[in-house]
Amino acid sequence: MFPCLAALLLAGCAKTPVAKPGPPLQAVATLEEVMHGMVIPNAEVVWKSSGTIYTKAGVEERRPQSENDWLAVEASAVTLTEAGNLLMMEGRAKDTGRWMQRAKALREAGAGVHQAAKARNVDLLFERGGYLFDACQGCHFDYRYEKDPKVIRSH
Ligand code: HEC
Repeated sequence: MFPCLAALLLAGCAKTPVAKPGPPLQAVATLEEVMHGMVIPNAEVVWKSSGTIYTKAGVEERRPQSENDWLAVEASAVTLTEAGNLLMMEGRAKDTGRWMQRAKALREAGAGVHQAAKARNVDLLFERGGYLFDACQGCHFDYRYEKDPKVIRSH
């Protein structure tokens, strides 16, 4: 009882807020490595899992075919969601303002895809895949194409 009370009193008395040390995070991979290793391959999984493909051979309505396919989309969505957090880390973030909003948009778009996949809703998955694309483009227009404005690639 007593040590507990003492701790409470001490905490109450501490006037100067001491910055709580965060976990010892360290950005190891470069931004490009995060794009190539996590963001691009997982976005491909999401985008390839829905939509209508017209070819000479006919029309293909893409959708996850099995429970495993749906689980793969879920896993990719989770990775994209968390990649948003990784992009916010010191060492990768290009600033503390707009960049954070753009990274947050990826996190939210990833979570939206995850919801659609969990609901096993292919129409919603297609729509959320579009929002995901917007999240990629939003950041790229601000931070990537400025480096090389002639290169407006597919994503
Ligand atoms: C918060 C910002 C941000 C978000 C969100 C983001 N990117 Fe990027 N991406 C960048 C930046 C900055 C570069 C350029 C890196 C460099 O060249 O140093 C880049 C580069 C790329 C490249 C080119 C890599 C190369 O080798 O030239 C691709 C492809 C790419 N991103 C795909 C995506 C996709 C797909 C998404 C969404 C699912 C996405 N990115 C989301 C910031 C972002």
